[in-house]
Amino acid sequence: MSDSSNRARLVHHEVSPTRRVSGVIDDAREGLLQPPRVLPPKYFYDDHGSQLFEAICDTPEYYPTRTEDALLAEASAAIIERVAPDHLIELGSGSSKKTRHLIAACDAAGVTPRYWPFEVSSQIMLDAADTLMRDYPWLNVDAMSGDYTGGLANLPLAEDGGRRLFLFLGGTLGNFEPDAAAAMLDEIGALMNPGDALLLGLDRVKDRHTLEAAYDDAAGHTAAFNRNVINVLNRELGGNMPEAAYRHRAVFNEDAERIEMWLIAEHDHEIYFQALDAGFSMQAGEGIMTEISRKFTERAIDELLARTDLAIMSHFEAPEQAYSLILATRA
Ligand code: AVJ
Repeated sequence: MSDSSNRARLVHHEVSPTRRVSGVIDDAREGLLQPPRVLPPKYFYDDHGSQLFEAICDTPEYYPTRTEDALLAEASAAIIERVAPDHLIELGSGSSKKTRHLIAACDAAGVTPRYWPFEVSSQIMLDAADTLMRDYPWLNVDAMSGDYTGGLANLPLAEDGGRRLFLFLGGTLGNFEPDAAAAMLDEIGALMNPGDALLLGLDRVKDRHTLEAAYDDAAGHTAAFNRNVINVLNRELGGNMPEAAYRHRAVFNEDAERIEMWLIAEHDHEIYFQALDAGFSMQAGEGIMTEISRKFTERAIDELLARTDLAIMSHFEAPEQAYSLILATRA
């Protein structure tokens, strides 16, 4: 398939947010200047951070990516048979690596949906679309550039009465606090008609050692990924945070059922950000929480869904209940 015929099958949309998304200035002002110090995880993903995330996914300790991948490979045929989608809509599609299993299952079943990836990193998304279109001559792609935290109401989805399968994979919903996670699911639910479905990837609670190792790999990629946010802040805010003064810490908070990633100061120091015209002092041992990654028990999955307009249709579990794919419809 030539590039020109690929292009004829690709539409690229820019999606504008439906609500104001906070920027780094607001997030730093609100989150950093006073304790408890906390940052949203989105600042990890500059070019370097995105590369580091790819490296994390290839470490032996970081099991979620390959566990979800294997589970999708196994479950895709049943999912496609069940939903027979006309539209495949993926939030945070990244390189669409795992989506490939679903598209291959469509191919095998003679189901030919249109693919709608939605992603902040446009280039990664467009490259992935190109490869998929080359491999599947029937595939048409509507690539949507934007940030799903800005809302979904402006997605340019076709109103053709076709069945929609939404995808929210990677366990990324675990980065949201419980209220925000339920709100996000309801936003997806609001786009669903009877017969539509959502496939949601969630990581499961397991032993502390496995969890903490997954977020502190021996090669140090997760530590580098965490500390890279210091460079992002310095660059974006004209700051002087000393990267060498921080160490990476990943801890499983058993009560909250979540991994927490922290940057811990090793000695006292002062920080100043030009863009805020403000600063603060850090004491040795003091921390900044840079990410939560929630891990779910089966009960927590039920509780999460019970707070939303969605109901579970099928639950696909990885061996040893290491990971879950939930297929849900609008209740
Ligand atoms: C891509 C957000 C699901 O929480 O496991 C990996 C990000 N952070 N290692 C996760 C991440 C540290 C990842 N998500």
